[in-house]
Amino acid sequence: MCGIVAYNGDNSAILNSLITGLKRLEYRGYDSAGIALLTNKKVYVKKATGKVAALESQILRQPPTSLGSVGMAHTRWATHGSATKLNAHPHTSSDRSIWVVHNGIIENYQILKKKLENKGIAFESETDSEVIAKLIGSLYKGDLRKAVLKATEQLSGAFSICVMHEKEPNRLIGLKMASPLVVGIGEGEIIIASDISAIIDRTKRVVYLEDGELIDVNSGNYEVVNFDNEARSKTITSIDWDLDKITKAGYDHFLLKEIMEQPQVITDSIRGRILHDSADVHFGGLFDIQKRLKNINNVVLLGVGSSYYAAKLGELYFNALSGVPAAAAMSPEFRYNKSHINDKTWVIAISQSGETADTIAAIEEAKKHRALVTGLVNVVGSTIARITDAGIYNHIGPEVSVASTKAFTSQSLLLLMQAVLLGRQDDLDYALAKDMLSKIEYLPTVINKLLKTRQQIEDVANHLYKSRSLLYIGRRFNYPIALEGALKIKEIAYIHAEGLSAGELKHGFIALVDKYLPTIAIATEDSVTDKMLANIEEVKARGGRVIAVANKPIEIADQQIIVPSINSEYLQPLVNNIALQLLAYYVAKLKHLGIDQPRNLAKSVTVE
Ligand code: M6R
Repeated sequence: MCGIVAYNGDNSAILNSLITGLKRLEYRGYDSAGIALLTNKKVYVKKATGKVAALESQILRQPPTSLGSVGMAHTRWATHGSATKLNAHPHTSSDRSIWVVHNGIIENYQILKKKLENKGIAFESETDSEVIAKLIGSLYKGDLRKAVLKATEQLSGAFSICVMHEKEPNRLIGLKMASPLVVGIGEGEIIIASDISAIIDRTKRVVYLEDGELIDVNSGNYEVVNFDNEARSKTITSIDWDLDKITKAGYDHFLLKEIMEQPQVITDSIRGRILHDSADVHFGGLFDIQKRLKNINNVVLLGVGSSYYAAKLGELYFNALSGVPAAAAMSPEFRYNKSHINDKTWVIAISQSGETADTIAAIEEAKKHRALVTGLVNVVGSTIARITDAGIYNHIGPEVSVASTKAFTSQSLLLLMQAVLLGRQDDLDYALAKDMLSKIEYLPTVINKLLKTRQQIEDVANHLYKSRSLLYIGRRFNYPIALEGALKIKEIAYIHAEGLSAGELKHGFIALVDKYLPTIAIATEDSVTDKMLANIEEVKARGGRVIAVANKPIEIADQQIIVPSINSEYLQPLVNNIALQLLAYYVAKLKHLGIDQPRNLAKSVTVE
C-alpha cells in the first residue's frame, strides 16, 4: 500500500524527516519511492524503483543545492501501471510547478484523463494519480487551496493527497478522502503522513483528518476546512504507541491486522466496479477482451493453496450464475487434465502474489491451447499480471502475513462478480443480480459485526488449542470454506486438520470420529441446512465433539460460534471463513507460535 510523508517547517530538518518517514513506511510494502523538495531554484525531484535506500543513495550522489521549507515523499505500491520511475510519485502539473503525492484510486481517471488530453495536456505516466496533478494544474489561478478544492468536485474514488506549488513556497496542502491521512504537530514543523509511523520520530501530537477535510499549512500555521471551504475545528491527540504497535496498527500480529481490515478490503476490491442501474459489474481490466468474453463456452479457475479454494468457491458461483460450465483446477495438476481447453475457454488465474510458479506453468499450458487467460492478482506488475491477456487486481494492499486471509476474501468476491458479469451477458435475472450486488456492498457491515464478537471465538480456541487433529465440514458453498478453514489452522497452528464435504463424511472419514476429534461444522442457514444438521447428528452419534459455526445456536452442538447473517448463501461463506481465520489465529496465539511467518512456508512460492 502506498505511503505519504510531507513536511512543512525547518529547512535543515526536511530531508532527514522525509527519508526517515519513508523508511518508517517500508513495512507497508512498496515497489518504488520518490521525493520532491521546494528549493530556491527549481523543484528538486528524485525517484527510484525498489527500496528507499536506492532513493537515498541517489540523493547522496546528487544532493539538493538549497532547501526550502516544504517537501513531500512517497512509497508507491503499484496499482495502475507497473513499478517504474515514471509511475513513481510525486506527479506534477504540465508546467511542473505543482507536485502531488496520492494514496487511493481515482475511479474516474480515464474520463478525466481524456478530458485533459482533449485540452492538449500530455501525460507522462500510466497512473491514475497523475490525473490529480494535471487537473489541479489546469484549475490553478494563483491560490493552491482554491484549485485543490475545485479539483475535488471532479474526482471520484479514494484520494488522500498532499500538494505543493513552487510559487507558494511556504504552503503545503493535505486532503483526505477514503485513505488514511494524519497530521503531526511538532515544534515549528508540521508533518502530514498516511500513517503515524512516519511522524512518530518527530512528534507524538497528532490531528486526525476525516474524509472530506483539507488541511492548509502555511509557514507553520494550519487551518482545516471541509470541501466547501468551511472551517472545521480539530483537537490534537497525544499518542503513546511504540513503533512496532503502529506498523501493525496496534495489533500483535500482521495476520490479525489483515483479518480485521477485511471490511475495508471489500470496499477497496469492489470500488467503482458495481453498476447499480443495470445490475451489472464493470472491470476496466477486462475492457479489451469484452468481445472474446461474449464467445466463451467454459471457464477454468486456476490456483493453489488458498487461491485454489477461492477457485473452488468460484466454480460454484460460475456454475450457479454465469450460464457456462466452470471447473476449478489445481495449477500443478492442470497439465494432466486439459483436453477440454480451447479458444472458447476462459481461464482465470488466481494468485495473490502473481508469482506462483505452478500457476505460471499452468497459464503457459492454457495459452498453448489458445484459451483466453486473465489474471486475478493482487501484486501489480507481477509475472502473472504481465503474461495474461488481461486481468483484474484485488486492490487490497500488500498481504504481509504468510497465511492468506484478506486475499482469499477479495478473490472469492471478485470471482462472484465475474460470474455475475458473464451471467448478465447471458440470462441472469436482473432482480437476482441487483440483490446480489447490494448484498456485496452490505458485506463489510456484516463482517464488522462479526469482528466485534471475536471474544467468543477466542473462548472456543481455548478449548481447541491442545487438539492433535481437527475436522472441518461444510456443504455446497461452505465446502470450500471447510477446506480453507482446515488449511489455515494447519499453516499457522500446526494442527493436523481435514476439510471435508459433510456428505463425504460417512464414506470413510467417520471411522476416525471419537471424543478426541473436535469437528468444526459450518451450519449457517442456507439451502442445505437440513442436510448439514443430519451430518452433525452423525458425528454426535459416534461420540464426536461438535463446534457449530451458525447463525443461531444449534442445540445438539457442544459449542457455538455465532456469526451474523447476510441473508445470502453466496456471501455467508465469506463471513463464516473470517470466523475460521480468527479461530486459527487464536489457537496459534495460545500455542505461542510465530504466526506471521509459519515454519517451512514462504509467502510466494516461485518454484514448481
Ligand atoms: O500467491 P498465491 O495466491 O498464488 O499463493 C498461493 C498459495 O501458495 C497460498 O495461497 C498459500 O496456500 C497460502 N500460504 C495460504 O494461506
